[in-house]
Amino acid sequence: MPASVSPKQKQRLDQLIAHALRAPQPTVDWNLPVTPRLWVRSAVYRVMVSQLYHGEIATAQLCALLHQRIDDDRVRQWLVIQERDELRHAAMYHRYLQRVGGVVDSDPVFVRTLSDVLAWRGDFLGQVLVFHVLLEGEAVQLLRNRFRCPLFAHISRMILRDESRHILFGRWYLKAQLENMPADRKIHWYATIRALWYENAEAQLKLYYGSHLPKWLRRHWLNRRWRFQQRALVRLGLVVDGQLTCNGILHRRIGIS
Ligand SMILES: [Fe+2]
Ligand SMILES: [Fe+2]
Repeated sequence: MPASVSPKQKQRLDQLIAHALRAPQPTVDWNLPVTPRLWVRSAVYRVMVSQLYHGEIATAQLCALLHQRIDDDRVRQWLVIQERDELRHAAMYHRYLQRVGGVVDSDPVFVRTLSDVLAWRGDFLGQVLVFHVLLEGEAVQLLRNRFRCPLFAHISRMILRDESRHILFGRWYLKAQLENMPADRKIHWYATIRALWYENAEAQLKLYYGSHLPKWLRRHWLNRRWRFQQRALVRLGLVVDGQLTCNGILHRRIGIS
């Protein structure tokens, strides 16, 4: 655990662990009706839920990987809890997907991003940052939508309860770690995350709408959504708000702390 972590922060992590250990195992009512209509075609709907499923598996893999690399008992205890949660979520999505036609392969850009990031060696903090933004942050945004399918809405509510704890832990851990990160590393990770996010979000948009959306509308949608992620990165301390343009290019390469 970083030296900058205060006793109060340690206490908060202990509370989070205790809360996660006390949380009851969710019981899914699999008899709820399945009406998988949203604002997308059914084939795309399966891809979208399958991406959530593949994302859960990848996050569980990252937890197992970090467990071997992080030398801190509290954090390792948390990783065991989170890995268990993610595998349970994956099983829930998998069972749901059987009801709507089965799991489909993920978008190739998403698959490549996940396998590349999992294969990174060296600075594992980059992996935590990418997963925090690209997987947990995006999944929570998606699950907060109103789903018309009663069974999926029911599953989403259960998963969101766990994911809120994961997001809290990620924020807490990253904030503490980023305090000591040199400015040039922060810029590197900001630029990396931004590039990966845009690449994946563009691929996703193409999947949902094909190539029919006008370029200006695509850019508008992507920039608006990126600003949400950007605010999260500012809150974590990776970048400072005043040093970003509206779509995320750094104004200056100095003074980020
Ligand atoms: Fe999850
Ligand atoms: Fe999670």
